[in-house]
Amino acid sequence: MIPFSRQKIFDDDIKAVTKVLRSNYLTKGKKVPEFEKNLGKKLNVKYVIACNSGSSALLLACRALDLKKNDIVWTVPNTYAASANCAIECGAKVDFVDIDPKTWNISVKELKNKLQKSKLKKKLPKILILVHLAGMPNQLDEIYQLSKKYKFKIIEDASHAIGAHYKNNPIGNCKWSNITVFSFHPVKIITSGEGGAVTTNDKKLADKVKLLRENGIHSIKKKFKSQPYYPNYYEQVETGFNFRMSDISAALVNSQLKKLDFFINQRNEIAKKYLKKINNSKFCFQENIKTAKSSYHLFIVKLVNVNIDQYSKIYKIFKKNDIFINLHYKALHLNPFFKKIGFKKGQFPISENYSYTAFSIPIFVGLNEKNIKKIINILNNF
Ligand SMILES: Cc1ncc(COP(=O)(O)O)c(C=O)c1O
Repeated sequence: MIPFSRQKIFDDDIKAVTKVLRSNYLTKGKKVPEFEKNLGKKLNVKYVIACNSGSSALLLACRALDLKKNDIVWTVPNTYAASANCAIECGAKVDFVDIDPKTWNISVKELKNKLQKSKLKKKLPKILILVHLAGMPNQLDEIYQLSKKYKFKIIEDASHAIGAHYKNNPIGNCKWSNITVFSFHPVKIITSGEGGAVTTNDKKLADKVKLLRENGIHSIKKKFKSQPYYPNYYEQVETGFNFRMSDISAALVNSQLKKLDFFINQRNEIAKKYLKKINNSKFCFQENIKTAKSSYHLFIVKLVNVNIDQYSKIYKIFKKNDIFINLHYKALHLNPFFKKIGFKKGQFPISENYSYTAFSIPIFVGLNEKNIKKIINILNNF
Protein backbone atom coordinates (compact mmCIF):
# COMPACT_ATOMS: atom_id res chain seq x y z
CA MET A 1 0.00 0.00 0.00
CA ILE A 2 1.41 3.41 -0.97
CA PRO A 3 0.59 5.93 1.79
CA PHE A 4 -0.08 9.67 1.33
CA SER A 5 3.17 10.33 3.18
CA ARG A 6 5.78 8.45 5.16
CA GLN A 7 9.16 8.84 6.84
CA LYS A 8 12.51 8.40 5.10
CA ILE A 9 15.10 6.97 7.49
CA PHE A 10 18.79 6.76 6.55
CA ASP A 11 21.56 4.62 8.09
CA ASP A 12 23.09 7.62 9.84
CA ASP A 13 19.70 8.28 11.52
CA ILE A 14 19.74 4.73 12.88
CA LYS A 15 23.35 5.13 14.03
CA ALA A 16 22.49 8.36 15.84
CA VAL A 17 19.62 6.65 17.69
CA THR A 18 21.70 3.57 18.49
CA LYS A 19 24.40 5.75 20.01
CA VAL A 20 21.89 7.21 22.44
CA LEU A 21 20.53 3.76 23.28
CA ARG A 22 24.06 2.69 24.24
CA SER A 23 24.61 5.81 26.35
CA ASN A 24 23.65 6.57 29.96
CA TYR A 25 20.92 9.05 29.13
CA LEU A 26 17.75 8.16 27.25
CA THR A 27 16.19 11.38 28.40
CA LYS A 28 17.43 14.67 29.91
CA GLY A 29 20.82 14.14 28.28
CA LYS A 30 22.62 16.32 25.74
CA LYS A 31 20.63 15.45 22.62
CA VAL A 32 17.58 17.62 23.24
CA PRO A 33 19.58 20.83 23.84
CA GLU A 34 21.73 19.95 20.83
CA PHE A 35 18.66 19.60 18.61
CA GLU A 36 17.14 22.80 20.00
CA LYS A 37 20.34 24.70 19.19
CA ASN A 38 20.56 23.28 15.65
CA LEU A 39 16.90 23.95 14.86
CA GLY A 40 17.26 27.52 16.18
CA LYS A 41 20.23 28.07 13.86
CA LYS A 42 18.41 26.59 10.89
CA LEU A 43 15.32 28.72 11.42
CA ASN A 44 17.11 31.83 12.60
CA VAL A 45 15.01 32.08 15.76
CA LYS A 46 16.22 32.80 19.29
CA TYR A 47 14.51 30.09 21.32
CA VAL A 48 13.49 26.51 20.55
CA ILE A 49 11.82 24.19 23.03
CA ALA A 50 11.50 20.58 21.89
CA CYS A 51 8.56 18.54 23.15
CA ASN A 52 6.83 15.22 22.62
CA SER A 53 4.26 16.14 19.93
CA GLY A 54 2.83 18.95 17.85
CA SER A 55 -0.31 18.74 19.99
CA SER A 56 1.64 19.32 23.20
CA ALA A 57 3.55 22.16 21.51
CA LEU A 58 0.20 23.85 20.78
CA LEU A 59 -1.00 23.42 24.37
CA LEU A 60 2.31 24.78 25.71
CA ALA A 61 1.99 27.78 23.37
CA CYS A 62 -1.56 28.57 24.55
CA ARG A 63 -0.64 28.22 28.21
CA ALA A 64 2.49 30.35 27.76
CA LEU A 65 0.33 33.10 26.21
CA ASP A 66 -1.77 32.90 29.36
CA LEU A 67 -4.89 31.64 27.66
CA LYS A 68 -7.65 31.33 30.25
CA LYS A 69 -11.28 30.48 30.80
CA ASN A 70 -13.62 32.51 28.53
CA ASP A 71 -10.79 33.94 26.40
CA ILE A 72 -11.46 33.58 22.68
CA VAL A 73 -9.30 31.74 20.15
CA TRP A 74 -9.85 31.69 16.40
CA THR A 75 -8.54 29.18 13.91
CA VAL A 76 -9.67 27.66 10.62
CA PRO A 77 -12.14 24.77 10.36
CA ASN A 78 -10.06 22.66 7.94
CA THR A 79 -7.41 21.57 10.39
CA TYR A 80 -6.49 18.72 12.70
CA ALA A 81 -8.33 18.58 16.05
CA ALA A 82 -5.19 19.64 17.95
CA SER A 83 -5.31 23.19 16.52
CA ALA A 84 -8.53 23.82 18.46
CA ASN A 85 -8.19 21.33 21.34
CA CYS A 86 -5.26 23.31 22.77
CA ALA A 87 -7.56 26.29 23.32
CA ILE A 88 -10.49 24.29 24.66
CA GLU A 89 -8.19 22.53 27.14
CA CYS A 90 -7.27 25.99 28.54
CA GLY A 91 -10.99 26.72 29.04
CA ALA A 92 -11.10 29.16 26.11
CA LYS A 93 -13.90 29.48 23.56
CA VAL A 94 -13.03 28.49 19.99
CA ASP A 95 -14.46 30.13 16.90
CA PHE A 96 -13.53 29.69 13.26
CA VAL A 97 -12.69 31.89 10.29
CA ASP A 98 -13.49 30.35 6.92
CA ILE A 99 -10.76 29.56 4.41
CA ASP A 100 -9.86 31.21 1.13
CA PRO A 101 -11.36 29.29 -1.82
CA LYS A 102 -7.99 29.26 -3.60
CA THR A 103 -5.20 28.98 -1.03
CA TRP A 104 -7.29 26.89 1.43
CA ASN A 105 -5.53 28.80 4.22
CA ILE A 106 -7.39 31.42 6.29
CA SER A 107 -9.30 33.95 4.19
CA VAL A 108 -7.79 37.33 5.03
CA LYS A 109 -10.96 38.98 3.76
CA GLU A 110 -13.14 36.91 6.11
CA LEU A 111 -10.70 37.57 8.94
CA LYS A 112 -10.93 41.34 8.42
CA ASN A 113 -14.76 41.22 8.33
CA LYS A 114 -14.97 39.08 11.43
CA LEU A 115 -12.53 41.31 13.34
CA GLN A 116 -14.54 44.44 12.49
CA LYS A 117 -17.81 42.83 13.62
CA SER A 118 -16.29 41.27 16.72
CA LYS A 119 -14.76 44.56 17.84
CA LEU A 120 -18.24 46.10 17.96
CA LYS A 121 -19.50 43.15 20.00
CA LYS A 122 -16.37 43.24 22.22
CA LYS A 123 -15.62 39.64 21.29
CA LEU A 124 -12.17 39.93 19.78
CA PRO A 125 -9.90 36.89 19.98
CA LYS A 126 -6.91 36.75 22.32
CA ILE A 127 -5.10 34.34 19.99
CA LEU A 128 -5.32 33.46 16.30
CA ILE A 129 -3.94 30.02 15.42
CA LEU A 130 -2.80 30.08 11.80
CA VAL A 131 -2.43 26.74 10.06
CA HIS A 132 -0.04 26.60 7.11
CA LEU A 133 -2.06 23.93 5.31
CA ALA A 134 -0.01 21.30 3.48
CA GLY A 135 3.08 23.46 4.14
CA MET A 136 1.80 26.50 2.23
CA PRO A 137 2.46 29.66 4.27
CA ASN A 138 -0.35 32.06 5.14
CA GLN A 139 -0.18 35.76 4.20
CA LEU A 140 1.74 36.45 7.38
CA ASP A 141 2.64 40.11 7.01
CA GLU A 142 -0.95 41.21 6.33
CA ILE A 143 -2.28 39.13 9.21
CA TYR A 144 0.46 40.45 11.49
CA GLN A 145 -0.70 44.04 10.75
CA LEU A 146 -4.22 43.02 11.75
CA SER A 147 -2.88 41.51 14.98
CA LYS A 148 -1.36 44.88 15.88
CA LYS A 149 -4.55 46.75 15.02
CA TYR A 150 -6.88 44.40 16.91
CA LYS A 151 -4.39 43.35 19.62
CA PHE A 152 -4.37 39.60 19.32
CA LYS A 153 -1.46 37.15 19.49
CA ILE A 154 -0.50 34.80 16.68
CA ILE A 155 0.47 31.14 17.00
CA GLU A 156 1.62 29.65 13.71
CA ASP A 157 0.60 26.00 13.59
CA ALA A 158 3.44 24.97 11.29
CA SER A 159 2.95 21.25 11.88
CA HIS A 160 3.05 20.87 8.09
CA ALA A 161 5.51 23.59 7.29
CA ILE A 162 9.06 23.04 8.50
CA GLY A 163 11.31 24.00 5.60
CA ALA A 164 8.70 26.33 4.07
CA HIS A 165 9.54 30.00 3.45
CA TYR A 166 7.59 33.24 3.38
CA LYS A 167 9.19 36.36 1.85
CA ASN A 168 12.56 34.60 2.17
CA ASN A 169 12.06 33.97 5.87
CA PRO A 170 11.98 30.40 7.15
CA ILE A 171 8.66 29.50 8.72
CA GLY A 172 9.42 29.27 12.43
CA ASN A 173 11.54 32.44 12.75
CA CYS A 174 8.45 34.17 14.18
CA LYS A 175 9.00 37.41 12.28
CA TRP A 176 5.22 37.79 11.99
CA SER A 177 4.04 35.82 15.04
CA ASN A 178 4.55 35.30 18.76
CA ILE A 179 5.08 31.55 18.65
CA THR A 180 5.42 28.83 16.01
CA VAL A 181 4.84 25.12 16.61
CA PHE A 182 6.04 22.11 14.62
CA SER A 183 5.16 18.40 14.55
CA PHE A 184 7.66 15.62 13.88
CA HIS A 185 5.15 12.79 13.41
CA PRO A 186 6.46 10.24 10.84
CA VAL A 187 4.21 11.54 8.02
CA LYS A 188 5.71 15.01 8.43
CA ILE A 189 8.82 16.41 6.66
CA ILE A 190 11.31 15.32 9.34
CA THR A 191 10.51 12.95 12.18
CA SER A 192 11.40 12.05 15.74
CA GLY A 193 8.84 9.21 15.89
CA GLU A 194 6.42 11.38 17.83
CA GLY A 195 7.61 14.89 18.64
CA GLY A 196 7.23 18.61 18.28
CA ALA A 197 8.82 21.97 18.96
CA VAL A 198 7.91 25.48 19.98
CA THR A 199 9.90 28.45 18.61
CA THR A 200 9.82 32.09 19.70
CA ASN A 201 11.98 35.22 19.92
CA ASP A 202 10.43 36.20 23.25
CA LYS A 203 12.55 35.09 26.24
CA LYS A 204 9.65 35.32 28.70
CA LEU A 205 7.51 33.04 26.53
CA ALA A 206 10.40 30.62 26.02
CA ASP A 207 11.04 30.39 29.78
CA LYS A 208 7.33 29.80 30.41
CA VAL A 209 7.11 27.07 27.76
CA LYS A 210 10.16 25.34 29.25
CA LEU A 211 8.70 25.53 32.74
CA LEU A 212 5.32 24.13 31.62
CA ARG A 213 7.05 21.32 29.70
CA GLU A 214 8.70 20.28 33.01
CA ASN A 215 5.59 20.07 35.22
CA GLY A 216 6.07 23.67 36.38
CA ILE A 217 9.39 22.71 38.02
CA HIS A 218 12.66 24.61 37.78
CA SER A 219 16.17 24.29 39.22
CA ILE A 220 17.33 27.87 38.64
CA LYS A 221 19.17 28.84 41.84
CA LYS A 222 18.62 32.59 41.68
CA LYS A 223 14.86 32.10 41.36
CA PHE A 224 14.50 29.84 44.42
CA LYS A 225 12.05 31.09 47.04
CA SER A 226 13.62 28.94 49.79
CA GLN A 227 17.11 27.87 50.71
CA PRO A 228 18.18 24.70 48.83
CA TYR A 229 18.94 22.02 51.43
CA TYR A 230 19.93 19.04 49.24
CA PRO A 231 22.00 18.78 46.00
CA ASN A 232 19.24 18.30 43.39
CA TYR A 233 16.89 20.81 44.96
CA TYR A 234 14.10 22.18 42.74
CA GLU A 235 10.89 24.13 43.20
CA GLN A 236 7.48 23.82 41.59
CA VAL A 237 5.94 27.20 40.78
CA GLU A 238 3.15 26.28 38.31
CA THR A 239 1.07 23.32 37.21
CA GLY A 240 2.40 21.82 34.00
CA PHE A 241 3.04 18.62 32.10
CA ASN A 242 5.77 16.16 31.25
CA PHE A 243 5.90 17.09 27.56
CA ARG A 244 9.65 16.42 27.25
CA MET A 245 11.18 14.97 24.12
CA SER A 246 13.40 11.95 24.86
CA ASP A 247 17.05 11.90 23.81
CA ILE A 248 16.24 8.93 21.56
CA SER A 249 13.74 11.08 19.62
CA ALA A 250 16.03 14.11 19.64
CA ALA A 251 18.90 12.08 18.15
CA LEU A 252 16.64 10.94 15.33
CA VAL A 253 15.18 14.35 14.49
CA ASN A 254 18.58 16.02 14.85
CA SER A 255 19.97 13.64 12.25
CA GLN A 256 16.90 14.17 10.05
CA LEU A 257 17.29 17.95 10.32
CA LYS A 258 20.57 17.70 8.37
CA LYS A 259 18.52 16.45 5.40
CA LEU A 260 15.75 19.04 5.63
CA ASP A 261 16.74 20.92 2.45
CA PHE A 262 17.07 17.64 0.56
CA PHE A 263 13.62 16.50 1.76
CA ILE A 264 12.04 19.83 0.76
CA ASN A 265 13.62 19.74 -2.70
CA GLN A 266 12.48 16.16 -3.29
CA ARG A 267 8.92 16.98 -2.26
CA ASN A 268 8.92 20.10 -4.45
CA GLU A 269 10.16 18.02 -7.40
CA ILE A 270 7.27 15.58 -7.04
CA ALA A 271 4.82 18.47 -6.71
CA LYS A 272 6.16 20.04 -9.89
CA LYS A 273 5.50 16.79 -11.80
CA TYR A 274 1.96 16.58 -10.48
CA LEU A 275 1.28 20.22 -11.36
CA LYS A 276 2.67 19.79 -14.85
CA LYS A 277 1.15 16.42 -15.72
CA ILE A 278 -2.26 16.30 -14.05
CA ASN A 279 -4.45 17.97 -16.65
CA ASN A 280 -7.98 16.81 -15.91
CA SER A 281 -10.24 19.88 -15.65
CA LYS A 282 -12.32 18.10 -12.98
CA PHE A 283 -9.52 18.92 -10.52
CA CYS A 284 -7.80 22.00 -9.12
CA PHE A 285 -4.81 22.60 -6.85
CA GLN A 286 -3.83 24.79 -3.92
CA GLU A 287 -2.89 28.26 -5.13
CA ASN A 288 0.66 29.20 -4.31
CA ILE A 289 1.13 32.74 -3.04
CA LYS A 290 4.01 34.22 -5.02
CA THR A 291 6.17 35.22 -2.06
CA ALA A 292 6.01 31.76 -0.45
CA LYS A 293 7.66 28.39 -0.89
CA SER A 294 5.67 25.39 0.30
CA SER A 295 7.25 22.46 2.14
CA TYR A 296 4.71 20.20 0.38
CA HIS A 297 3.99 18.07 3.43
CA LEU A 298 0.84 17.24 1.51
CA PHE A 299 -0.15 17.44 -2.12
CA ILE A 300 -3.85 18.21 -2.12
CA VAL A 301 -6.09 17.76 -5.14
CA LYS A 302 -9.65 19.07 -5.13
CA LEU A 303 -12.67 18.29 -7.24
CA VAL A 304 -13.82 21.57 -8.78
CA ASN A 305 -17.47 20.72 -8.09
CA VAL A 306 -19.05 18.92 -5.17
CA ASN A 307 -20.13 15.46 -6.26
CA ILE A 308 -20.14 13.03 -3.39
CA ASP A 309 -20.46 9.97 -5.65
CA GLN A 310 -17.40 10.99 -7.63
CA TYR A 311 -15.55 11.84 -4.41
CA SER A 312 -16.10 8.33 -2.97
CA LYS A 313 -15.28 6.79 -6.33
CA ILE A 314 -11.82 8.42 -6.35
CA TYR A 315 -10.98 6.77 -3.02
CA LYS A 316 -12.16 3.40 -4.35
CA ILE A 317 -10.10 3.64 -7.53
CA PHE A 318 -6.95 4.56 -5.63
CA LYS A 319 -7.56 1.77 -3.12
CA LYS A 320 -7.92 -0.76 -5.94
CA ASN A 321 -4.47 0.38 -7.07
CA ASP A 322 -3.05 -0.04 -3.55
CA ILE A 323 -2.75 3.71 -3.09
CA PHE A 324 -3.97 5.32 0.10
CA ILE A 325 -5.32 8.85 -0.30
CA ASN A 326 -6.85 10.81 2.55
CA LEU A 327 -8.76 13.98 3.45
CA HIS A 328 -6.87 16.71 5.33
CA TYR A 329 -9.23 17.73 6.89
CA LYS A 330 -12.98 17.43 7.34
CA ALA A 331 -14.04 20.81 8.78
CA LEU A 332 -13.85 20.59 12.58
CA HIS A 333 -17.30 22.14 13.14
CA LEU A 334 -18.89 19.21 11.29
CA ASN A 335 -17.71 16.84 14.05
CA PRO A 336 -20.08 15.76 16.84
CA PHE A 337 -18.00 17.54 19.51
CA PHE A 338 -18.33 20.96 17.87
CA LYS A 339 -21.97 20.38 16.97
CA LYS A 340 -22.59 19.64 20.65
CA ILE A 341 -21.13 23.04 21.63
CA GLY A 342 -23.34 24.88 19.13
CA PHE A 343 -21.71 24.93 15.69
CA LYS A 344 -23.91 24.19 12.70
CA LYS A 345 -23.52 22.97 9.15
CA GLY A 346 -23.57 25.93 6.77
CA GLN A 347 -21.56 28.29 8.98
CA PHE A 348 -18.28 27.96 7.06
CA PRO A 349 -19.26 27.10 3.48
CA ILE A 350 -15.81 27.17 1.85
CA SER A 351 -14.39 24.76 4.42
CA GLU A 352 -17.47 22.57 4.00
CA ASN A 353 -17.08 22.52 0.22
CA TYR A 354 -13.41 21.59 0.78
CA SER A 355 -14.48 18.75 3.12
CA TYR A 356 -16.40 17.07 0.30
CA THR A 357 -13.94 17.64 -2.55
CA ALA A 358 -10.31 17.62 -1.32
CA PHE A 359 -7.97 14.66 -1.01
CA SER A 360 -4.22 14.24 -0.50
CA ILE A 361 -2.33 12.09 -2.98
CA PRO A 362 1.02 10.49 -2.09
CA ILE A 363 4.03 12.76 -1.74
CA PHE A 364 7.14 11.63 0.15
CA VAL A 365 10.85 11.08 -0.34
CA GLY A 366 11.26 7.70 -2.02
CA LEU A 367 8.02 7.76 -4.04
CA ASN A 368 9.28 6.33 -7.33
CA GLU A 369 8.65 7.46 -10.92
CA LYS A 370 6.49 4.44 -11.71
CA ASN A 371 4.10 5.23 -8.90
CA ILE A 372 4.09 8.96 -9.64
CA LYS A 373 3.04 8.13 -13.22
CA LYS A 374 0.42 5.68 -11.97
CA ILE A 375 -1.11 8.38 -9.73
CA ILE A 376 -1.08 10.94 -12.57
CA ASN A 377 -2.75 8.42 -14.93
CA ILE A 378 -5.47 7.58 -12.42
CA LEU A 379 -6.37 11.26 -12.10
CA ASN A 380 -6.14 12.03 -15.82
CA ASN A 381 -8.33 9.05 -16.69
CA PHE A 382 -10.91 9.83 -14.06
C1 LIG B 1 -2.27 21.08 11.49
C2 LIG B 1 -1.84 20.16 12.59
N1 LIG B 1 -1.71 20.65 13.82
C3 LIG B 1 -1.31 19.88 14.87
C4 LIG B 1 -1.02 18.55 14.68
C5 LIG B 1 -0.62 17.72 15.84
O1 LIG B 1 0.67 17.18 15.73
P1 LIG B 1 1.04 15.82 16.45
O2 LIG B 1 0.44 14.70 15.69
O3 LIG B 1 2.55 15.81 16.43
O4 LIG B 1 0.53 15.92 17.84
C6 LIG B 1 -1.13 17.98 13.42
C7 LIG B 1 -0.86 16.56 13.20
O5 LIG B 1 -1.15 15.96 12.21
C8 LIG B 1 -1.55 18.81 12.34
O6 LIG B 1 -1.70 18.32 11.10
